[in-house]
Amino acid sequence: MSKAELHIDGKKIELPIVEGSEEGKAIDISGIHARNGIITIDPGYSNTGSCKSAVAYVDGERGILNYRGYPIDQLARKSTFVETSFLLIYGHLPTADELSAFREKLVKNSLLHEDMLHFYDGYPTTAHPMGILSSMVCSLSSYYPDFLDPSNPEHVECLIPRVLSKIRTIAAFAYKKSIGQPVIYPCNSLDYCANFMNMMFAVPSEKYDIDPEIVKALNALLILHADNEQNCSTSTVRMVGSSDANLFASIAAGICALWGPKHGGANQKVVEMLQYIKDNNLNVKTLVAQAKDKNSGFRLMGFGHRVYKSYDPRAKVIKDMSRDLLAKLNRSDPLLDIAQELEAIALEDDYFIERKLYPNVDFYSGITYRAIGIPLNMFTVMFAIGRMPGWIAHWKEMHESSDNRIGRPRQVYTGSRVRDFVPIEQR
Ligand code: SDX
Repeated sequence: MSKAELHIDGKKIELPIVEGSEEGKAIDISGIHARNGIITIDPGYSNTGSCKSAVAYVDGERGILNYRGYPIDQLARKSTFVETSFLLIYGHLPTADELSAFREKLVKNSLLHEDMLHFYDGYPTTAHPMGILSSMVCSLSSYYPDFLDPSNPEHVECLIPRVLSKIRTIAAFAYKKSIGQPVIYPCNSLDYCANFMNMMFAVPSEKYDIDPEIVKALNALLILHADNEQNCSTSTVRMVGSSDANLFASIAAGICALWGPKHGGANQKVVEMLQYIKDNNLNVKTLVAQAKDKNSGFRLMGFGHRVYKSYDPRAKVIKDMSRDLLAKLNRSDPLLDIAQELEAIALEDDYFIERKLYPNVDFYSGITYRAIGIPLNMFTVMFAIGRMPGWIAHWKEMHESSDNRIGRPRQVYTGSRVRDFVPIEQR
């Protein structure tokens, strides 16, 4: 194993180099504090690996994302979300029997405990569904008190299909409640995505025809959102899970992290930005100029990425998908035209080129959700449904790893030196 040398205060510290199965290399600093009384610091963890993982491989310079070795564009074209979920969680493409058994578990675990429906009554109709989603997922732990031990494989296998299946039901019920319509229960004869569409858009008073083109696009969209290695929300799921908090609680925390506009919340912000440009008939060049002006407080949402320093491979597929789906539905969306104009101008601009700012997964996803009929404030919920198998896979991988220790970063203290308490009359 090759080594790195650190010379500090006249002392040579040798550190092993960890090599990944693809291009990745890392300096292993575990034990550096115990042996040398020193830590490293890396705000935002841009240069720090939290773990070894076999779930997904990202090459940000070359714009590569593979799930368990399979390129995402192949999975988006050839797989289903349920099959890709199995792949991410269990590490291999399922046999026909494995897929059928996995699918059956999802079908049989799509209902919520009937008491959970009362939780929705407490939310204002204006509540953002991400807050409801996180609360409801965490509340699932109240209904499986005897299956919450992360070290018990039987407990884990009990919870995985339940959270992966029920996330759809929780999301659709939140939407129905927000618009005052009766909830539509899961239908066991429908597959994963069609079942979700039915719960979202069917009404008891008339037949709802599920468009197979929309189901196909939704499968692909969810696949493309399913994992992206150690992003903010997945790292949150790992961090919370590292305390041996149960799967539901860990995922609920990940949903909260995803909600942020710097992360999954960006897909809603992108469409709000595009709509603002359209409604105010703004010149796209003006917006790009604003995005470059640090004092404007405006950022080009859906652009830039901590890891992808080239075109996000998911954005490429989703951009084409949004165009194809609109054509198949014989519809157009002026926001797609604005998005493409924005992209063209930004990618020619030195500010974006120098900083390697490209469209990310969120730039075109909202256009596709609009074409499918998903309401704006449910866009990030769709991201959470898609990311569910990735969160589960990482949580499971962490608990099965010999490196599984509670996450507890250190710090460099920059506050006051030690001082004595001052009585209030002397202050
Ligand atoms: C997701 O990590 C993942 O994998 C996330 C994700 C996943 O699958 O889980 O891929 C999903 O969250 C995608 C990102 C969605 N967020 C957005 O689209 C929000 C807009 N983008 C950013 O705010 C930003 O690009 C981040 C948050 C995505 C990345 O932030 P970084 O890595 O901390 O980069 P930075 O803020 O330090 O920016 C570096 C430079 C700065 O300029 P300088 O100080 O060097 O002059 O680039 C500029 C920034 O001002 N910049 C932007 C910009 N993004 C970065 N300028 C204008 N518009 C932008 N969008």
